[in-house]
Amino acid sequence: MAHMSNPTAEPDFKTAADLAGVLPNSATVENGHLHIAGVDMVQLARAAGTAVYVMDENHIRQQLRDYLQWTHYHWKDVDIIYAGKAFICRAMCRLVHEENCCLDVSSGGELAIALSAGFDPARIYAHGNNKTERELIECIEAGVGHIVVDSFDELDRLSALADMRGINQSVLLRVTPGIEADTHDYIKTGAEDSKFGFGLNQGLAMQAVKRAIELPGIDFEGLHMHIGSQIFALRSYAAAIEVIVGFMAQIKDECGTDVRLLDTGGGLGVAYGVPDEPSSIKDYGKVVIDDIKEQCERRGLTIPRMAVEPGRSIVANAGVTLYTVGTIKEIPGIRTYISVDGGMTDNIRTSLYGAHYEALIANKADQPRSTTATVAGKHCESGDIVVADGPIQPADIGDILCVPATGAYCQSMSSNYNKQVRPGVIWLRDGNWRWVVRRETYDDLLRCDLA
Ligand SMILES: Cc1ncc(COP(=O)(O)O)c(C=O)c1O
Repeated sequence: MAHMSNPTAEPDFKTAADLAGVLPNSATVENGHLHIAGVDMVQLARAAGTAVYVMDENHIRQQLRDYLQWTHYHWKDVDIIYAGKAFICRAMCRLVHEENCCLDVSSGGELAIALSAGFDPARIYAHGNNKTERELIECIEAGVGHIVVDSFDELDRLSALADMRGINQSVLLRVTPGIEADTHDYIKTGAEDSKFGFGLNQGLAMQAVKRAIELPGIDFEGLHMHIGSQIFALRSYAAAIEVIVGFMAQIKDECGTDVRLLDTGGGLGVAYGVPDEPSSIKDYGKVVIDDIKEQCERRGLTIPRMAVEPGRSIVANAGVTLYTVGTIKEIPGIRTYISVDGGMTDNIRTSLYGAHYEALIANKADQPRSTTATVAGKHCESGDIVVADGPIQPADIGDILCVPATGAYCQSMSSNYNKQVRPGVIWLRDGNWRWVVRRETYDDLLRCDLA
């Protein structure tokens, strides 16, 4: 029998249909079951086991194509750089390559995955505020097309490493434009008080440009900024672009140098829940690309090659996580906890910064989400919550619980806390499914254990 709702909570009778825009584009409800890309999520969970990440491949491809379409509509010369930190594996690298996009890596590990997938290093952008010497050497020796330099120490180190190898390494300098993006503090990166990049206001960015122009082994190609993540207000981009194009004009005046490549980072927000209304890729393309063009024209600057680095908006809504309901605890007058076979190890975002998620029961997807419950994980932390007090169908043990919008920053931020084996990743396409990352086993947990 279905569990009863928490009597103190107001049911809002939301349905799975309300989750259009949060679920993948291809999501439908058939015979009471949630389907994605023509695959029955309940049958899939029974066949593949849970917890499991499931992603709609065509949704990912469509997002990349939309970025290409709506940036190239405004300017022919724009690189779409997928930010691998959102979700990376070999299949993802190959997909990005097939869709004629570039790749942002932010560690030697991400670079190694990209190279092992055969990704063209010339189309890789390497990031990180503290790249180790080894990582810099790996980038240079692999022929990484663009290294985004974050500090004076790194600039000097890279110059020496590239020069001794007879290489003139293309470099972007990461600049913090001093703009407060309208988002959570943990994912704001463009403000002055940030560990990332060279501050504009203190004159550090200009010092870095002058040093980059002079240093051997460095080809100063241009500028990079990333003002934050999960940004809904496009005005944050417009404000930052005004500042950075102003800086380009200052570089032209003081150094006589044109910025050949301007990378405005990622950050476009996505819908995690019913009330979220993110900006479209079409509007983003217009604001970002048109603004750069207009600002450059107004200041008499040559319009540079451009680049944007979306991560979350490519993969977040392509993915869902499927769990099995294991226990249900009703605390009368307080709250109902539905515990699942995963939690903060596969999705840390709720515990880390109170991220909002929705939940639905995949085998009751045609029923209203008429109760309110908290979806809890199985780990030894009270903060191990996946969905805090959200609408859901009345749950039973053994139900398949689906949390949408988990394609970004869930698998990539997953852990083995409590020695939980990490879920695998399944990709769906045209009614078929395949593993692209297998589920870990206990042997994987012992792989690095030497004693
Ligand atoms: C430098 C850089 N580029 C791109 C991104 C991707 O941002 P998002 O996933 O919000 O699009 C990030 C995210 O942290 C970043 O740090």
